[in-house]
Amino acid sequence: MKGATTNICYNLLDRNVNEKKLGDKIAFYWEGNEPGDSAKITYSELLHKVCQFANVLRSQGVKKGDRISIYMPMILELVVAMLACARIGALHSIVFAGFSADSLCERILDCGCSLLITADAFYRGDKLIILKQIADEALQKCKDKGCPLKKCIVVKHLAREEVAVDGTCSKSPPLKRLCQDVQIPWNPAMDVWWHELMSSASSECEPEWCDSEDELFILYTSGSTGKPKGVLHTVGGYMLFAATSFKYVFDYQPEDVYWCTADIGWITGHSYLTYGPLANGATSVLFEGVPTYPDIGRMWSIVDKYKVTKFYTAPTAIRLLMKQGEEPVRKHSRKSLKVLGSVGEPINPEAWLWYYRVVGEERCPIVDTFWQTETGGHMLTPLPAATPMKPGSATFPFFGVVPAILNESGEELEGEAEGYLVFKQPWPGIMRTLYGNHQQFETTYFKKFPGYYVTGDGCRRDKDGYYWITGRIDDMLNVSGHLLSTAEVESALLEHAAISEAAVVSHPHPLKGECLYCFVTLRDGHEFTKKLTDELKKQVREKIGPIATPDYIQCAPGLPKTRSGKITRRILRKIAKNDQDLGDISTLANPGIIKHLFNSRCDTKQ
Ligand code: WT7
Repeated sequence: MKGATTNICYNLLDRNVNEKKLGDKIAFYWEGNEPGDSAKITYSELLHKVCQFANVLRSQGVKKGDRISIYMPMILELVVAMLACARIGALHSIVFAGFSADSLCERILDCGCSLLITADAFYRGDKLIILKQIADEALQKCKDKGCPLKKCIVVKHLAREEVAVDGTCSKSPPLKRLCQDVQIPWNPAMDVWWHELMSSASSECEPEWCDSEDELFILYTSGSTGKPKGVLHTVGGYMLFAATSFKYVFDYQPEDVYWCTADIGWITGHSYLTYGPLANGATSVLFEGVPTYPDIGRMWSIVDKYKVTKFYTAPTAIRLLMKQGEEPVRKHSRKSLKVLGSVGEPINPEAWLWYYRVVGEERCPIVDTFWQTETGGHMLTPLPAATPMKPGSATFPFFGVVPAILNESGEELEGEAEGYLVFKQPWPGIMRTLYGNHQQFETTYFKKFPGYYVTGDGCRRDKDGYYWITGRIDDMLNVSGHLLSTAEVESALLEHAAISEAAVVSHPHPLKGECLYCFVTLRDGHEFTKKLTDELKKQVREKIGPIATPDYIQCAPGLPKTRSGKITRRILRKIAKNDQDLGDISTLANPGIIKHLFNSRCDTKQ
């Protein structure tokens, strides 16, 4: 309604506590990386903390419309920080804690964040990550580029209060090893501890009343130009879409214990770990660790520990677990499970069937949900127990979503067909712009086929009207459910002094779905050695993050190009796969290079 006001944090917390009387209900069970390390928080406790932190932000001068960068592990303070931003109308820009200092810096600069919230350090499986150190590196880079960010709020997570002043640890035995001496870099001019600010903060905090079209958050996603795009979602439509899709797609019931394994740093964690479940007053599990630590049965032991009823994960995790056989799954009861969800990339029928038969014992419907950072919530998805399933198909559109399949000339195809997946009508959760670049928003999503929103995915409709996503048809690739652009990896490679040209293509991978296969042309005087490939991998990891580490790097004295000089990645993909069926190569300027590239392929992972 025009002129009406709302606040999403109020709807998620105050309303559930005061009107729905859910104050004592658990909002989150937090399960730490280390078994035995856990916590829980009720709706009223969460409201209390969010109000306190919202006051902290206000006391730091944060106002409606300001951008706040959040770079944190999967801990309760992350939820508190994001909802505190929403409460005061500041925009959170959450950066996945697996991203590098460069990536964090780029995102801070792009939307001009005035404050960073981070944590000291955390464990992911066996690996200790000193997050504050990476954050500091990013802040130094930002400073060098003239960024005005002045404050950094740091959660003491790894070294929580259980560690006594004399260094003795009061945690239960499995947690003792967390108390080792970890040096956290500290910059007194900028850094301030979260707990110190919170200790004196009031828990009375009037929400900032917002228009439904006011900005809620920015979340960066890979763009085909190589520069990440700041997807902007607004308050009203996003709230409605996240809340409604959560309710229907997971058939939410008040007694559910829901677990979404995604990191909050991705859109799945925004819509289906935070906003959607909390809007419905749901109880969720928030897990800090990884599926393989301390052993491959961790997911199922968590399912049993909290009696999880609805479980939402990614095909890459399912394939990883599938590889270890049925035993680690069967060892756990899993009888609480009712609905199983999948998201992030196409799920191959073999993984779908394993998920259905082994994990769900043929009793749990699977919801394969197709959507994007840009869509805010589910677009194509079955409704559990209502939609007859086909393994590998995201089935039908969600309420209010009108898909179409277009051919190259932009004509709508009817019946059985394959082509570009587009949407014909806006829906409540659609992104409103790319932060600071409305022009790019229009060209990226609406220019190719005027009047339609273009997803960038290929799609097939079968004779029964089911939709099957066939994967990206632009220069994007999907590694373990994470979208990357070939351009961003190429520019990371090109920063190495030995490289004059680089082309990256997606390559099938049994666990990750897709992986990166890179072709590099060396500058004169450089040699293609193991040392160089190691350096290149390190370079990409440092520029983007570990998820972007190339699996294959092939030396290419030249790259196949069209006469206008455009690299033909279509042919490079075939070379990577050793598929000799190249189709038409008559438009190439240098067809001679192809034979050479086939002969010098890398067959094994380097
Ligand atoms: C791209 C969006 C949606 C949250 C996680 C990823 C692919 C996503 C599915 C699915 C087939 C899928 C698409 C899409 N994708 N879900 N169920 N079946 N493909 O968000 O990083 O914005 O990536 O992920 O290619 O365009 P994102």
